[in-house]
Amino acid sequence: MMKRKKFIQTLSSVAITIPSLGFLHSCSGIYYATAKEEVDKITIAKHEFILEKNNKVSKREFVLIQNNKYRFPICLYKVGEDYIASLLKCTHRGCELNVGGGIYSCPCHGSQFSNEGTVLQGPAEQKLKTFPTKTDDENIYILFS
Ligand code: FES
Repeated sequence: MMKRKKFIQTLSSVAITIPSLGFLHSCSGIYYATAKEEVDKITIAKHEFILEKNNKVSKREFVLIQNNKYRFPICLYKVGEDYIASLLKCTHRGCELNVGGGIYSCPCHGSQFSNEGTVLQGPAEQKLKTFPTKTDDENIYILFS
């Protein structure tokens, strides 16, 4: 009888935990921007960096971009007036990197990279693959050439 009660308690805690994880994810600042992918570039509207929430306007530090060219997302980070586009593939053994706290961190063996792609902590030794970017009044372009 105690086992059944314990089982029901466990199920209740799982049912409560799953929506909570979704809430945490939405608060983590991870945002996949709408982007237009072409053979030689990806176009992202600058307004993708504007965050409107509860009638308050703020700016995102970065957005993520899914793409067909690479198996990994690209992170577009705004650093000062520049935009730095990095492939979120660890240069150690190829795990997908996490973004947070102004750095990229690898869940596999602990490498860390700056938001400009340089190695902050090994075992990775090579900087991240980055892409040139350019801007005009409305858009940011990530160039594949
Ligand atoms: S794959 Fe990233 S640290 Fe090993």
